[in-house]
Amino acid sequence: MPAVVIVGAQWGDEGKGKATDLLGSRVDYVVKFNGGNNAGHTVVIGDEKYALHLLPSGILSPGCTPIIGNGVVIDLDVLFEEIDALEARGIDTSKLRVSANAHLIADYNRTLDKVTERFLGSRKIGTTGRGIGPTYADKMNRLGVRVQDLFDEKILRAKVEGALELKNQMLTKVYNRRAVSVDEIVDQLLVHAERLRPMVADTALVLHEALDRDETVLLEAGQATLLDVDHGTYPFVTSSSATTGGACTGSGIPPTRITRVIGIVKAYATRVGEGPFPTELFDEHGERLRTNGGEFGTTTGRPRRCGWYDAPVARYAARINGVTDFVLTKLDVLTGWDRIPVCVAYDVDGERVDEMPTTQTGFHHAKPIYEFFEGWSEDISGARTMDDLPAAAQAYVRAIEKMSGARISAVGVGPDREETVVLHDLL
Ligand code: GDP
Ligand code: IMO
Ligand code: MG
Repeated sequence: MPAVVIVGAQWGDEGKGKATDLLGSRVDYVVKFNGGNNAGHTVVIGDEKYALHLLPSGILSPGCTPIIGNGVVIDLDVLFEEIDALEARGIDTSKLRVSANAHLIADYNRTLDKVTERFLGSRKIGTTGRGIGPTYADKMNRLGVRVQDLFDEKILRAKVEGALELKNQMLTKVYNRRAVSVDEIVDQLLVHAERLRPMVADTALVLHEALDRDETVLLEAGQATLLDVDHGTYPFVTSSSATTGGACTGSGIPPTRITRVIGIVKAYATRVGEGPFPTELFDEHGERLRTNGGEFGTTTGRPRRCGWYDAPVARYAARINGVTDFVLTKLDVLTGWDRIPVCVAYDVDGERVDEMPTTQTGFHHAKPIYEFFEGWSEDISGARTMDDLPAAAQAYVRAIEKMSGARISAVGVGPDREETVVLHDLL
């Protein structure tokens, strides 16, 4: 039975949480495989609205086992705050399983995230300040602290000691901050250890056994293709693998088990933080997209940068991830424009370029070449089939589908679970 991947096809906040929730009742496991509490997924179910950061969106579906995979970086304070908040609202979180190999965000990583950003000045990335980058850097430097280390205090202490040798030099000598003690960090990390213990598992094995029993596993990405550390707009990216390849390394599920890759793509584009964004709007259209789409960060509350749909970006995401199906979200936000521009290619220093430019400089210089589509003014939030959509909205969806490298299997017409036009079954 299938392992199905959900990935963001743009710069994040495409509506991955809603898509995961939509499928939640039909899958047995939902796995978060990358990132940490830099993610923010808003899920609306009737009158209830949930903002999830570290927990996979599948936690809202009774019957579904949520898994935090080895590729995730965990802030334990945030994990238990989120669990407590959901439990207080009657959501059962007891099935949650956490990989013993996932890395932990220590306090010094949060500090370093913030001070390096300040140090970078105009070259800053605009991170979420959650310690994500420094924690992944520790992982790659083999200086990380993992979930399993919490259960052997001697090892935990040795690892923190090793990490702090260098960190304290950096904190005090480069960034002019106070040094931190091993005891302080070990104590902070151990606060939640006993509560975490029963959740810890060999999650790769759990998932393999589930697949062998013909159960369905949904792998839910945080962030998105253009924020992926390898395939995104480096250095303006996050520090994890947010694409389909990351779903494998971040969960322990091999590529041969993956049968479907669902790319989530907004009917326009947004980005939070710094970095190139060719279709970005600085005029009243951008402001209108932001207001109509509620484009303010779920995690940091920052206003999201807004622009028109960028087809080369979607095509790129389709290729990198092997997208089999797109879910086009937030089509309702485009209601009310006379005509809607779509970027079909770029002008890079006077030359037409049809795909993502090869170099970062090329992408920084890329000016969008637009095609214009007829708009519509009818409220589309009640649409449940393609035929319910006005002809112009149907034409927009079909045109985007043609340009984006995979079929569109669902269209979002509102934030609620129900506000979805399904064209092809996603499982
Ligand atoms: P994620 O990070 O990819 O899960 O996306 P976010 O939750 O950060 O941002 C997407 C926002 O759009 C959330 O507030 C969703 O409730 C909302 N949303 C998702 N799909 C739709 C849609 O089709 N229409 C509208 N209007 N809102 C949507
Ligand atoms: P979801 O899962 C949008 C952005 C930050 C910054 C860059 C690096 O909700 O789509 P980091 O803190 O990860 O080191 O920041 O990545 N970023 C996101 N932007 N949605 C997200 O997650 C993001 N997670 C990180 O704004 O530009
Ligand atoms: Mg988000």
